[in-house]
Order: sequence, then structure tokens, then C-alpha cells
Amino acid sequence: MKELLADAAARAARYIETIDNRPVAPSSDAVAHLAALGGAVPEKPSNPADVLRLLDNVGSPATVATAGGRYFGFVIGGALPATLAANWLAAAWDQNACMRVMSPVAAKAEDTVREWITDLLGSPAQSGIGFVTCTTMANFSGLAAARSEILARAGWNVEENGLFGAPPIRVIVGQEVHVSLLRALTMLGLGRSRVITIPADGQGRMRVDQLPELDRNTIVCIQAGNVNTGAFDPAKEICARAKEAGAWVHVDGAFGLWAAVSPRYAPLLDGVGNADSWAIDNHKWLNVPYDSGMVVVRDPEQLRRALSTGQAAYLTQSSEREPWQFTPDASRRARGIELWAAIKSLGRSGLRDMIERNCRQAELFASRLRAAGFTILNDVVLNQVLVSFGTPDETRRVIAEIQADGTCWCGGTVWQGQTAMRISVSSWATTDEDVERSAKAMIRIAKKVKAA
Ligand SMILES: Cc1ncc(COP(=O)(O)O)c(C=O)c1O
Repeated sequence: MKELLADAAARAARYIETIDNRPVAPSSDAVAHLAALGGAVPEKPSNPADVLRLLDNVGSPATVATAGGRYFGFVIGGALPATLAANWLAAAWDQNACMRVMSPVAAKAEDTVREWITDLLGSPAQSGIGFVTCTTMANFSGLAAARSEILARAGWNVEENGLFGAPPIRVIVGQEVHVSLLRALTMLGLGRSRVITIPADGQGRMRVDQLPELDRNTIVCIQAGNVNTGAFDPAKEICARAKEAGAWVHVDGAFGLWAAVSPRYAPLLDGVGNADSWAIDNHKWLNVPYDSGMVVVRDPEQLRRALSTGQAAYLTQSSEREPWQFTPDASRRARGIELWAAIKSLGRSGLRDMIERNCRQAELFASRLRAAGFTILNDVVLNQVLVSFGTPDETRRVIAEIQADGTCWCGGTVWQGQTAMRISVSSWATTDEDVERSAKAMIRIAKKVKAA
């Protein structure tokens, strides 16, 4: 075992050490060689060292270098050194984070992180937090609490009786709602097409002047950090209106909620703290390994009730926080360990510096591309940049060539009718040098495409 783990550590270190020297996207040859991982069910055992060697030799070259500093696709963070190391140790522990009695260390990490997160994000100190896989599941869990509470107030127990015959719930979303939130509504039986959709402004922010009358049967889903522009819905006005009417406000803050740790960017979140539930990602901007998200609910009982199970005599109850009562799943890995390691290693100042550095780097990208004559389509308020290289076809060709070139990786989108390339700066590993090198490659390729 000791030799095997040392071998794994050596291979992993070699991978990380050489990540900056390889193309960000894998070659088509490397992807074709993945066929070596297929085949029929192995009839006989293999030596674990051979299994690892095959995985490294074939698998490592076919990875996308998202752990490096020049991946700007989707919204993807890397893994901070302390979190990667903690992840290995926790994998060796192989703890089930379901119950306190199964893993005191996993439960303690969650307890500590719950306190740190409410402090860092400025959420109510007593909030309930569930440590889930991603923002999709955080949206699901937060909206489950909303559904439960709204129906309970109307005298309906949705956990016991389901939705058949229940009083109707009205759900309001912005025109720029993320699809993961609609997916959560789908899974909750609230329907993704029966929502009321509020028009957005040019940055994707919900237009408050278009908000209908709110009431106690309404859930308003707002966004902190648009996946394309980084823009924030006007939480202050929306939460004030909702509070007056007794409506529930849920915030999809996958990456944008991390702006709370920076005095410079926190004003974007004005009023977000007055919501009832929040969904946030850790594998994006906190830079912990996949998979990791959090649901935060102002009243922990509402989250616990929404995710409660029926009685089972063998499941423990205790006066302390029981992790499984705050997530949709029971058995799960101890992802709180990496969160603890991230915050312990960065500290408040390190976290703030990482967020502010990425935002500054997004501005650097925008200024280099603008100076080269290309159009930045959004106000760069956070870590997201949208750039057009000319006609839709030119922009699409530039994106394809940037991806093939391998210096960096960016994806495309269509923003309010305009074809654009998205740049998302979300990794602790990105240096200013990475940005300069990537911007140069983008400009070189775009000029070539336009000249062709
Ligand atoms: C605003 C927003 N919500 C939700 C998600 C979904 O996150 P996840 O992939 O962690 O479920 C994303 C992903 O980029 C996002 O930007």
C-alpha cells in the first residue's frame, strides 16, 4: 500500500508540475488512446500498480488542463494545494460523512465550515448549511425548503402528502435564470415552464419594475453572478418587496456569492443577505476539488424538514448537528474536509486576494482585447468577460482555433442575440503572465481569422 500511494503521489506531482507545458485541451491522439481503458469486463485481477500505471499513461494525457492557469471555459476553478492534499488524506480515511457517529472528523469539519461560511459570506449566524455536490443540488435543496415552508404556512404538509391537491406555488425567475435552477424546479414538481419570467436588462439583471405583486405563495429566484456577464440581480429591492409580502427569496449565487469576501466587490451583493436561502459552489471559485457545493437556509429547521426521511430505528438522532439531515443524500464523501483545508490555508485575506486577483485579471483580458480592436459585450463587474471578434461566424471560428491552438481554452455563447466568446477567470493558479500569454494568443488568432 505504501509503495502504491507513493507511486500515485509521484505521478500526480509530475502531472501538476508539467501542466503549464502542455496544450490545455488534449490532443485527438490522446483521446483516441483512451480506447485502452475500454474492453470487456476483466476476468482476472490485475496488480494495483499496473492499474495505476495504465490509468496515468493513458488517462493523464487525455485530461483537460483545468488544474492549470489558462483554462477560462464555463466557470471552473482549480484545486488549491491544501485542498488537493486534504482530499488525498480524506480519501485514505474513506469516511462516510452521513452521520456524526460514522465520522466525528467529517462532522467537526462541517460544523467549523458552517460557522466560517456564515461569517465570511455575512449570512445569518444560525443558518443551516448542507454540504452537497454542486449548485444544482444546492438550488434543489434551497427550493425544497422554500416549497416546504410556503405549503406549511398554507396548512399543507408536502413531506407527508406530496404535491397532489396542494395549494399552488407561484415561482418567479429572471429571464437570465441558470438552467440548473430550472432543473431543480423540475425535480421538485414545480415545473420549469409554469414559472413567471421577468425580463432582464442589457447585463442580464432582473428588471424590478416588471416584478408582479408578490404574496405568501411566491418564491422569487434571483441570481448573484450571471454565468455570462457576472451581473447581479437587484437583491435589495426584490428582498424588500418579498419581505413585505411574505414571499420567499432564493439566491442562485454559484460563484457570485464569493464576492462577499471582498470589500471592493461586496457592494454588488447589496441586499442578498435578506434572502431566505442561498446556493453556492465550492468547486468553482473556492477552488476545492470536485464535487462540492453548499445550500444555506436562514432557518435550519426549514431545510431539515424539507429533506427529512421517515422513521428508521437504526439511524441516529442527536442534539448536535447531524450532517445527513441537511442534504438530499445519506452516504457521501467527506467534502467538508477540503472546505476546511481551503479556508484554513487561505485565511480571510488569502480568499479575498484570490477573488480580487481573478476580477482584476478579467479586467486585464478586457483591456487587452479592447485595445486590439475587439468588442467587449458586458460591463466587466466581476470575473466574466464576453468578447465578440466580429461576425458570428468569425467569432465561432476564432473560438474553434483558440481551442485547437492549446495556449488556453475558452468556450462560446450567444449573449442577447450576439455570438460571443466567454472568458471566466476563476482559478487560484492563474497568474498575470497566464493572462498576458493567453490574450496574445487570442489576438494573434483573431487577427489571422479576420485576415483570411
Ligand atoms: C449561476 C449558476 N448557477 C448554477 C450553476 C450550476 O453549477 P453546478 O455545475 O455546480 O451545478 C452555474 C454553473 O456555472 C452557474 O453559473
